Amino acid sequence: MKVLVIGGAGYIGSHVAKAFLKAGHKVTVFDNLSSGLLMNIFDGEDFIPGDIRHPDDLDRAFSRGFDACVHLAAFKAVGESMVQPEKYSVNNISGTLNILNAMCAHNCRYIVFSSSAATFGSPQYLPIDEKHPLNPESYYGFTKLEIERFLAWYDKIKDIRFAALRYFNAAGYDPEGEIIGLERNPQNLLPITMEVAKGWRKELQIFGQDYDTRDGTCIRDYVHVSDLAEAHVNSLSYIDRENKSLVVNLGSEVGISVTEMTEAARRVTGKEIPARYVGRRAGDASALYATSALAKELIGWAPRYSDVDTLISSTWKVYQKYDKNPYA
Ligand code: WQD
Repeated sequence: MKVLVIGGAGYIGSHVAKAFLKAGHKVTVFDNLSSGLLMNIFDGEDFIPGDIRHPDDLDRAFSRGFDACVHLAAFKAVGESMVQPEKYSVNNISGTLNILNAMCAHNCRYIVFSSSAATFGSPQYLPIDEKHPLNPESYYGFTKLEIERFLAWYDKIKDIRFAALRYFNAAGYDPEGEIIGLERNPQNLLPITMEVAKGWRKELQIFGQDYDTRDGTCIRDYVHVSDLAEAHVNSLSYIDRENKSLVVNLGSEVGISVTEMTEAARRVTGKEIPARYVGRRAGDASALYATSALAKELIGWAPRYSDVDTLISSTWKVYQKYDKNPYA
């Protein structure tokens, strides 16, 4: 199929674009490069610079004729979304409506959307399945949930079929080593841990040691980006084959604590990784992990690279290519 990967120059988007290319699809990347990188665009992919906030940019892109699009062009910093909700309204919400309207105007019927476990909020039970109540605790999570609801209406009224993929904690890098762009100003545990291992940061701050978990630190479900990427390809086949939309969780189903992740990072990198326990970070749930049984059943998805060692080693390999922090 002809697939437009919106946000395809970003960290997750580049892995997704690669997976579609490898599966034999014709891939065009649409990205405003606000956090995406040109170095993340592969030979064999077309590139259209553009911004989802500008309907004209989308009109120009979709007029080339696409069977499907994948939408990964969102702002995703939970903390920032609580301070600057306007930015998230305009980009995440209005931008997505612009995409949906451009799809309608140009007869593109399928969309695979990066949703998030942030739609659930604090867990009422574990593991989290798709029926778990949806109570986002951040404006970011709210934007993802609202978009899922827009998608359902466009499905009903305009016959657009969608896959909303609720990622848990995306981590890792292309095991084949072809994607080596570092995120600017990373906010997540693993890249921050790598920056400490490289000596670019003095220490890792571990947020909270008094949670009701086996070692007192928060438990999360880390899932490899290449596994996530494969789920996008499978989901598009599903909505095309079944003519039915899809909402699924994507997690490794394994809960790892921050301390366990730090110790594993020390072992895999052979670096000391100084760490200090500090106070809790606002808004952190003590434990969050998924059941991905539905993704397994419907799209035949099973993570292949989401074990802790592969998550860390594939990331460390990328960081080892850099002598210094490219953004310092
Ligand atoms: C993981 C754990 C921190 C940094 C976020 C979004 C979520 C989803 C996935 C997109 C937590 C701890 C972290 C540090 C630490 N994103 N930590 N020191 O918050 O679980 O999930 O990404 O949809 O919506 O909230 O990910 O990587 O920030 O944190 O101790 O310097 O590591 O407290 O327990 P999080 P994270």
